[in-house]
Order: sequence, then structure tokens, then C-alpha cells
Amino acid sequence: MADKMLAAHFDPPGGPDNLCVKEVIRPVPKEGEVLIQVHASALNRADLLQTRGRYPPPPGASLILGLEAVGKVVALGPGADGCWKIGDRVMALLAGGGNAQYVAAPASQLMPIPPGMTDTDAASIPEAWLTAYQLLHFVGKVQKGETVLIHAGASGVGTAAIQLCRLAGVLPIVTAGSAEKLEFAKKLGAASGFNYREEDFGAKCLETTNNVGADIILDCVGATHWQKNLQCLNTDGRWVVYGLMGSGEIHGDFLTMLLKKRGSMLASTLRARSREYKTELVKAFTEQVLPYFKPGGSIQLQPIVDSVFPFDQIADAHRRMEANKNTGKIVLQIPV
Ligand SMILES: NC(=O)c1ccc[n+]([C@@H]2O[C@H](COP(=O)([O-])OP(=O)(O)OC[C@H]3O[C@@H](n4cnc5c(N)ncnc54)[C@H](OP(=O)(O)O)[C@@H]3O)[C@@H](O)[C@H]2O)c1
Repeated sequence: MADKMLAAHFDPPGGPDNLCVKEVIRPVPKEGEVLIQVHASALNRADLLQTRGRYPPPPGASLILGLEAVGKVVALGPGADGCWKIGDRVMALLAGGGNAQYVAAPASQLMPIPPGMTDTDAASIPEAWLTAYQLLHFVGKVQKGETVLIHAGASGVGTAAIQLCRLAGVLPIVTAGSAEKLEFAKKLGAASGFNYREEDFGAKCLETTNNVGADIILDCVGATHWQKNLQCLNTDGRWVVYGLMGSGEIHGDFLTMLLKKRGSMLASTLRARSREYKTELVKAFTEQVLPYFKPGGSIQLQPIVDSVFPFDQIADAHRRMEANKNTGKIVLQIPV
């Protein structure tokens, strides 16, 4: 086995023009890790920020981009035997390193690829679906019959959240920035959708819920939406912040409005969580959700792939995400 591999690289930090693929040292699996030969990976907003030098990986994580990978187990580190065997097809949740030909991943953060699913489809699952599942169930503690307002409803996380709401017997309502994205979200299961650029989604959300509002808001936008969020949050509702695409700086009488709604503010990140937490999340998702990706069931979840880019066109893939053009996930095909 040669000890080199191709990996995404940027130097110095900057936009997509600073990205390339170059030869680096192949990782060696440590205690509890397995080595995966990567066939596909996918993009996340975190990669755009990291490339610009604004989202460094947590301590101990690979400096290489990529929060997810799909491929074949090719080596087992010490203490990782018994869980997976050489040749298993797996998808992995990572704190980094997925945009490369090989990645070392904790054995407990791997999932089997559902039978019949392509590598490309599987690559769209780990980060977006585990984030959406975590926000709804671990953080928001969603209950059957509730209503959830999902911002960026056509994003990787949004398209997963819509489907997970339906699986949990919950009513999803979305916002998005175009009629096409709203239409797509509705086809996936969103009960209503509002164009936040053209409509007052706070008023519209109240109107469609008979003035009750949303029990949970999944918010990756932040400051630019805060007043409308509080306007349409149900009394005792939970507002879950997990991204700040519209900035984090709020001006106004925020606490008064929050108090009037007896609202709970919750915030969550996944990447920097402990291995124990991720292990529990991956286990719950594997048991509760993965079986529903099997074709022919009464409920059929769909991996949503927007586009597939060859690895050496990673800069174009970043440009597409930066321009907000994707609906669902942008996947990278990694040469074996
Ligand atoms: N905390 C966590 O654990 C965690 C984990 C994963 C992802 N995230 C966050 O989740 C969010 C979605 O990630 P993703 O990878 O699924 O994204 P994505 O697929 O790239 O979709 C993001 C979409 O958000 C919308 N958007 C962008 N800027 C906006 C703004 N200023 N105001 C309103 N909408 C805006 C755009 O769609 P429109 O055309 O509809 O505007 C864009 O296409 C990101 O903020 C990401 O950082 C957080």
C-alpha cells in the first residue's frame, strides 16, 4: 500500500480559487478507528467557512476538508476489530478529512450503506441527516403532532429535516429563497412553504397554523429572521439555532419578545461534539431511520443529491454552494 493519497487542499485560506487537490500522507487508523478508502464525499457550509479560514477543525481532527465520506473499509486500527470487517461498504460522520482518497474514522461513527444504495446517494446522508435528526430529536425533543418551521428548506439539512418530520408524525413548514426550491420542498412533504425574500413568513406561518405558530423553529439563518421567528413561535415553543447564515448580531427588544412567548432558545453544533455523543447519535439514527431508506416500504426516505462533481472540480462544487444554487447535497466523486 503506498502511503500517499490525494486530498483537498487550500493555501492560503480564501475562496474556491484557492482550492486544489494535492498529494499528502495517507492517515493511519488510531485506537478505535478504521481506515476507509473513500469513493464519495459531500460538501457542507462548514467547508466553505473552513476554506476561508473561519471555521478551524476541532482539536485533534484532520485538517483536511470533509465532514462525511462513503467507501470501503480497508484497514482496522487497534481495538476496532469486531465492529467492521475489511471490505464493508460504510458511510462515516467525520470531524474532518472526508475530501480525500482515504480517511481514518472512529468505528462507532460508521453506518452501513443501505442495501442497493449507490455511493453517491449514500454520500449525501451522514452530515445533513444526522444534523437534522439531532436537532429534531436530541435537541428539540420533537413530539408527534407538533409543527416545525424549517428555514432553508431546500438545503441539505432542510431536505432531510422535512422527511424526518413526516417520519415522526410532525408537520413541516419551510422557508426558501425561490419558487423552485419551495416546490421541491413541498414535493418532499412540506405542508406549506414561504419565500422569505418576498413574503412575511412570520405572518404566513401564523396564518397557516390558525394563529398558533410553530412549536419548533430549526434556524440556520439567525439575526435577519429573529423578529419573524418570535412572531410565529408558539407559546412555550423551542427555537433551535444551528447556523448563522444571516449573521449573529441582533438589535432590538429580543428578550421582551422571547419572554412574551415563554420561548426556549436552544443552540447546537455537531462537529465539535464528543465521540460518545456522536456514537449515541449514529446508533439511534442507524436503528430508527436507516431502515426507512429501503425501497418499497410504506415510508420511503430519499437521499437528495443536487449534483455530483469529480474530485478535481472541487472548486466548482464550492462555487455552486456559495451561490446558493444547490437543492440538497453536492457530492464529490473521489477517484479510487
Ligand atoms: N450546527 C450544526 O451542527 C450544523 C451541521 C450542519 C449544517 N449546519 C448549518 O446548516 C445550514 C445549512 O447547511 P447545508 O449544508 O444544508 O446548506 P446548503 O445545502 O448549502 O443550503 C443552504 C441554503 O441556505 C439558504 N441561505 C443562504 N444564505 C441565507 C441567508 N442569509 N438567509 C436565508 N437563507 C439563506 C440558501 O437557500 P435559499 O435559496 O433558499 O436562500 C442556501 O442554498 C448552514 O448554516 C450550516 O452551517 C449546522
